[in-house]
Amino acid sequence: MARKYFIAGNWKMHKTRAEAAVLARELVAALKDGRHKYLIAPGFTTLETVAALIKDSNILLGAQNCAVEEQGAHTGEVSVLQLKDLGVQTVILGHSERRHIYKEDDGLINRKVRLALKHGLDVILCVGELLEEREDGRAEAVCKRQTVEGLKGISADDFSRVTIAYEPVWAIGTGKTATPEDADAIHAYIRKVIGELYGSGAAESVIIQYGGSVKPDNAAALMAKENIDGALVGGASLESGTFVPIAKFS
Ligand code: 13P
Repeated sequence: MARKYFIAGNWKMHKTRAEAAVLARELVAALKDGRHKYLIAPGFTTLETVAALIKDSNILLGAQNCAVEEQGAHTGEVSVLQLKDLGVQTVILGHSERRHIYKEDDGLINRKVRLALKHGLDVILCVGELLEEREDGRAEAVCKRQTVEGLKGISADDFSRVTIAYEPVWAIGTGKTATPEDADAIHAYIRKVIGELYGSGAAESVIIQYGGSVKPDNAAALMAKENIDGALVGGASLESGTFVPIAKFS
């Protein structure tokens, strides 16, 4: 089965409403004839602004995180219900910055994945090893654990709304990209793990994005690999001049 490329921009903690609006408008215009699946994930405070601008476009709206509880006394958190109310369709969960800076563990991430899916949102589940884990030969084991634990209790039906993003932590924001060969090897391994969990049909159809210093000059080589089905872009997603060439790679 042919998988459709899925290119997503994670704006992280950048942009005011005015700045977000400028970029959203540029992307709507530049990507309207794009052939791939697109998503942008602005910060919470700019979601409403961006939602209004991309509403009739081919760009989906993503959030970068959500609370583990549906609602209640959780000062400073943002609930899945609030995200849905803004028109969010997809939530990024388990990003390495959530795992490593904010100490989110596999159990917590799994609860968030289940909650988001229960409320009809799609999920991008991020996995990826630290440099020392790679150097110790544990990259596969770490990605397997994060994948298996992150997906615990999720039915095959719900899994069809999950995208996996492989983001080696040492490649994020560092300018160091995994080589297409190294990335493809981990993607193939994650695909095998998905096969063990959900069967060969799911393994064949799951979209596995690569993230970590994706730039206009390395995107095509990464995407050419059999098991790389898209990109989750950080720094280069903050300007249309760098995101559009990635989104329209050929
Ligand atoms: P960079 O593209 O800035 O390395 O960030 C990748 C990332 O973390 C996307 O979620």
